[in-house]
Amino acid sequence: MSIRAIGLHKHYSVGNSEIHALDGIDLDIMSGEYVTVTGVSGSGKSTLMNILGCLDLPTSGQYLLDGCDVGEMTDGELSEIRSRKIGFIFQNFSLLPSLTALENVELPLMYRGAPKELRRRIAAEALEAVGLSCRAKHRPSEMSGGQQQRTAIARAIAADTPIILADEPCGNLDSRSSHDIMDILQELNRSGKTIVMITHDEQAARRAQRLLRIADGRLVQ
Ligand SMILES: Nc1ncnc2c1ncn2[C@@H]1O[C@H](COP(=O)(O)OP(=O)(O)OP(=O)(O)O)[C@@H](O)[C@H]1O
Ligand SMILES: [Mg+2]
Repeated sequence: MSIRAIGLHKHYSVGNSEIHALDGIDLDIMSGEYVTVTGVSGSGKSTLMNILGCLDLPTSGQYLLDGCDVGEMTDGELSEIRSRKIGFIFQNFSLLPSLTALENVELPLMYRGAPKELRRRIAAEALEAVGLSCRAKHRPSEMSGGQQQRTAIARAIAADTPIILADEPCGNLDSRSSHDIMDILQELNRSGKTIVMITHDEQAARRAQRLLRIADGRLVQ
C-alpha cells in the first residue's frame, strides 16, 4: 500500500498567532518500505504521522493512499482505513488498562466482528510472536514498559494491517527493550509491512532503508 503526500500544510490558530506545524510536505513511500522520521521537538513529526494515519486532515494539500484521495473519503471509508489498513504504535503504549494483554491484542479483531475463537487464536499467536505468551493474562499495570509496548505491537500484528505507523515507540523504554522493539519492527518489515517510525534515536533511525528529517514543518535533506 503506497503513501503519497503532495504539498501538505497543517496550520493551527492559537490566540492571534498562526502555527505552521506542516509547511509544504511532499512525500512518497512505497509499499514495503521502512522509513524513519527524525527532527527536533515541535518540528511537526507527530502532526505528519497523524495525517498519514488518517487521524487528522491537512489544512491544505493532498494525501493519497494507494492512489485514493483521503480528503474525499467519507467518515465510513476513513474508519475502514484506520481499522484495516493502518496499525498504530504510540510512545505511551495506549493499551486499555482494564483489559488483559490478550484482550488488548484481540480488540482490533473484535471491532471487525471476528468470532471469538478466531480472534483468541490470532491474538495468542501475535503475543507469541513478540515473546509474551507468558503475560497473556496480565493487565498493563502488571507489565513492564517494554512488555506493554510489545503487547501494543502484538495488537498491530493481530490487526495485520499493511501499514504500521510508530510515533516514538521506544521513547519510554530502556536500551535493551528498545533493541527488542526495533528487532520486531524490522522483522515485520521483512514480512512485507510498510513501516514509518518517528524516533529521536539516531542509531534506531539508521536501521531503516530511508531516513527523513523534518525541520519547521518541512522535509530537509
Ligand atoms: N492541536 C494543536 N494546536 C495548536 N498547535 C499545535 C497542535 N498540535 C501541535 N501543535 C504545534 O505544532 C507544532 C508541531 O507539533 P508536533 O506535535 O507535530 O511536533 P513533534 O515534532 O511531534 O514534537 P515532539 O518531538 O515533541 O513530539 C508544534 O509547534 C506544536 O506546538
Ligand atoms: Mg511528537
